[in-house]
Amino acid sequence: MIKIRVPATSANLGPGFDCLGLALDIWNEISFESAEKMSHFVIGEGAEKLNKGFRNLLTKSFALVHSVCGKKLSTVKIEASNKIFMSSGLGSSAAAIVAGLCGANEILNKPLSENDLLKLATETEGHPDNVAPALLGGLLTSIITRDEIIWRRYEMPEWTIVIVNPQVEWLTKTARAVLPKSISRTDAVFNIGRTALVIDALRNGDLSLLQKVMDDRIHQPYRLKHISGGTSAYKIAKTFGAAALSGAGPSIINFVEATSAEKARREIINIFEERGIETKSIVTKPSNQGVYSIKNPSLV
Ligand code: HSE
Repeated sequence: MIKIRVPATSANLGPGFDCLGLALDIWNEISFESAEKMSHFVIGEGAEKLNKGFRNLLTKSFALVHSVCGKKLSTVKIEASNKIFMSSGLGSSAAAIVAGLCGANEILNKPLSENDLLKLATETEGHPDNVAPALLGGLLTSIITRDEIIWRRYEMPEWTIVIVNPQVEWLTKTARAVLPKSISRTDAVFNIGRTALVIDALRNGDLSLLQKVMDDRIHQPYRLKHISGGTSAYKIAKTFGAAALSGAGPSIINFVEATSAEKARREIINIFEERGIETKSIVTKPSNQGVYSIKNPSLV
């Protein structure tokens, strides 16, 4: 038996659309045990949806590694205990893909390298910004070229991070459909400089710099207006520290001083509750550890 632990991620981080992502200290745990036939069962976040059928991103990714390596599919009992909110902008799809790929890779005695896994995960997800930190931990900058994914990883210092996830229907597909096909040079320049400064601020634990530069003109303005309460919640979050839409949303991610975390969480929740929208929320921190496996977990 092996157990895979895979972290949540927050992509974009304001201006770094489709190229920045950060691993968070929120984990899904998935065990794979040899069995006579395939089965898949989830407890925790997303259980209701994921237990409806067997074909999902995790099981498809598990099968993908077998077919890429020319191996017969290993029959396993898969059990997941999920903490990552689904459809929230916290990389639950990336976590499922990475867990499926890494689970299969472990079972087959690691035929694929880290870069092979990143390439497969990126092809499955469509962009590397969530899958790269889920695999590697920390803060990741990554780009896709014709032949490879080029990435750099940065170790993160301590940060206090508030996440508030409004319970609204918001699919990544919709979140991409509302974006304009092209942007002005002014907006491109606005984002380029800020992306470089966001990386610097995050690596150095510099909250006052992050608060000044975590703005975006490529995706957030177009998305926030479709999320009920989104713009107001984002504005309140900014009064406590640096804020962004997490990934494609609808969660708001807020980097704050540890002493203001509970107040920030309460006030962001209030904005949504005033509109009759329920929320899930968490105070967390970055994870410098990406996905990892525990062999024979009962013996550890
Ligand atoms: N960069 C992606 C987006 C993350 O903003 O659409 C969500 O998949």
